[in-house]
Amino acid sequence: MDSSQIHLPPPSQKGSLSLEEAIARRRSVRDFTPESISQSQLSQILWAAQGISNTRGRYRTVPSAGATYPLEIFVVCGRNSIDGISDGIYQYNIGSHSLTLHYAGDVRRELARAALDQEFIYEAPVDIVICALYERTAMRYGDRGERYVHIEVGHAGQNIYLQATALGLATVAIGAFYDEQVREVLRLGKKYRPLYIMPVGKPSL
Ligand SMILES: Cc1cc2nc3c(=O)[nH]c(=O)nc-3n(C[C@H](O)[C@H](O)[C@H](O)COP(=O)(O)O)c2cc1C
Repeated sequence: MDSSQIHLPPPSQKGSLSLEEAIARRRSVRDFTPESISQSQLSQILWAAQGISNTRGRYRTVPSAGATYPLEIFVVCGRNSIDGISDGIYQYNIGSHSLTLHYAGDVRRELARAALDQEFIYEAPVDIVICALYERTAMRYGDRGERYVHIEVGHAGQNIYLQATALGLATVAIGAFYDEQVREVLRLGKKYRPLYIMPVGKPSL
């Protein structure tokens, strides 16, 4: 086992809110308390976004054109944002349901700046950033692959919304940002294209 990996608690497949209630209650929220979220809550959110959902480890919680899986998920958090996890940028390892530290330090302010200063990006404890590697899908589907990638990020985003709602947390899908700046803040190479930033935290009432 790689010691730099943070293994997340296994996701649960039972919750206290019905799917119908989660759909009915889902709302974009832009006001978060600075309270931390637990590793179990993060585990659940990441699993809903892109986790493995069959025993042979091939298929995921969201559909993907030809199972080409172009999406990669990054977690941006500050100090005391997630219980027991230090500030930084983490990549979600889908197969092992774990995190790998990609960069140490809190970059939420820089991330907000890259997204037209939408301040809830640094007020929320955690930002989930969904990036795409278009070539994975374009290799199979050519130009049409781009359309498929954009459809897929919507599936992942909706799952994050519904899972957050079911956990008593909240989120908002953010599409307004400068791609190049977000990529720089995340210290990612050019082949990664950020598509959504989704701040997650407890909603302030
Ligand atoms: C593709 C997309 C991009 C969006 N970008 C932003 C954004 O940059 N900032 C923001 O505050 N909300 C953003 N939203 C959230 C919408 O404003 C929100 O979904 C809409 O107002 C309807 O509200 P509801 O989600 O509570 O139903 C985005 C939503 C989508 C689907």
